[in-house]
Amino acid sequence: MKIEKIGVVGAGTMGNGIAQVSAQTGYQVVMRDIKQEFVDDGIDNINRFLSRSVEKDKISEQEKEETLSRIQGTVDIEDLKDCDIIIEAVIEDVEIKEEIFKKLDELCPSKTIFTSNTSTIPITKMAAFTDRPDRFIGMHFMNPVPLMKLVEVIRGFRTSDEVTDTVISLAEDMGKVPVEVNDSPGFVSNRVLIPMINEAIYCVQNDVAEVEAIDNIMKLGMNHPMGPLALGDLIGLDTVLHIMEVLYDEFNDSKYRPCPLLKKMVRAGYLGRKTGQGFYEY
Ligand SMILES: NC(=O)c1ccc[n+]([C@@H]2O[C@H](COP(=O)([O-])OP(=O)(O)OC[C@H]3O[C@@H](n4cnc5c(N)ncnc54)[C@H](O)[C@@H]3O)[C@@H](O)[C@H]2O)c1
Repeated sequence: MKIEKIGVVGAGTMGNGIAQVSAQTGYQVVMRDIKQEFVDDGIDNINRFLSRSVEKDKISEQEKEETLSRIQGTVDIEDLKDCDIIIEAVIEDVEIKEEIFKKLDELCPSKTIFTSNTSTIPITKMAAFTDRPDRFIGMHFMNPVPLMKLVEVIRGFRTSDEVTDTVISLAEDMGKVPVEVNDSPGFVSNRVLIPMINEAIYCVQNDVAEVEAIDNIMKLGMNHPMGPLALGDLIGLDTVLHIMEVLYDEFNDSKYRPCPLLKKMVRAGYLGRKTGQGFYEY
C-alpha cells in the first residue's frame, strides 16, 4: 500500500519527533493537537532541532525549509481524514485514545491504517475500538524519535500481514530499524527494561549499594550507556511506576510488583529530571 500522507495525533514529545522524521523522509504530514499553542510548541521544537542540524552541517537550510513546509499543524481532527496512515501519540490515557480512534474510524476511509505509539496499552484492545482491527498496529518509536533507530512494530491479534509489511517498509523508509513483536503487556521493550529499573530500585531500598555504584556496575560491567537509576530519572519515575503497575495487573504475577521505594518517591513528587529530584538532583 502506498503511503503519501501521514497524520500524527499529538504534537508533544513523541508526536513532534514522529512528524519531523516523517517530513524529513519526504512525506506530507498533518500534525494535530487540541490547542493551537501545543501545535505551535511542537513545530517550534522541530524548528529548533532542524536549526541545530543545519549548524552542525548535517542538513542544508533548504532541506530544513522543505521539511517544515511539509508539516501542516492543525487543531481540527477533520484535517486527518485524507491521510493514508495515522500515527497516534497522545497522552497515555486509554479513554482519550478510544475517543480519538472512534472519531477517526468514522472520518477516515476504510483503507487508512491506524497505528498507536502507546508504551503499554494493548494494541488488540485499541483495535477493538474501531471497525478495522486488521488495519490497526502498534508503532512504538523511542525517545528522542529523530535519534533513536528502533521502532517496535506490534501486531495486534487481528492485524493483517499486508498492514504489517506496509508499516515495516514505512519505518525502514524513515531510516529506522523495525522489529516485529506480538501484542503482549509491555511488548518486549518495556517488559525487559522497566523490571530491570525496578530491580535496581530494590537494590537501593535493600541497601545493596549506593545509587552511583549501581549505575556504574551496569554502565561499566554491562556496557549500558546509562545506569538504570539515571534512566529511570530520565523516563520519569511516575512513568516507570505506571508501566510496572500495568505489567503487574496484566500478568497477575508477583514478579512484576513495583518496588515500595519507587511508590514512595512518586508520592513524594520525586519524579526524576522533570521535577529536579529523583535518584539524582538536577
Ligand atoms: N515520552 C516517551 O519517552 C515515550 C516513548 C515511547 C512511547 N511513548 C508514548 O507516546 C505517547 C505520547 O507520549 P508523549 O511523551 O509524547 O506525551 P506528551 O505529553 O509529551 O504529548 C502528548 C500530546 O497529546 C496531546 N493530546 C491530548 N489529547 C489529545 C487529543 N484528543 N488530540 C490530539 N492531541 C491530544 C497533548 O496536548 C500533548 O501535546 C504516549 O502514549 C506514551 O506512552 C512515550
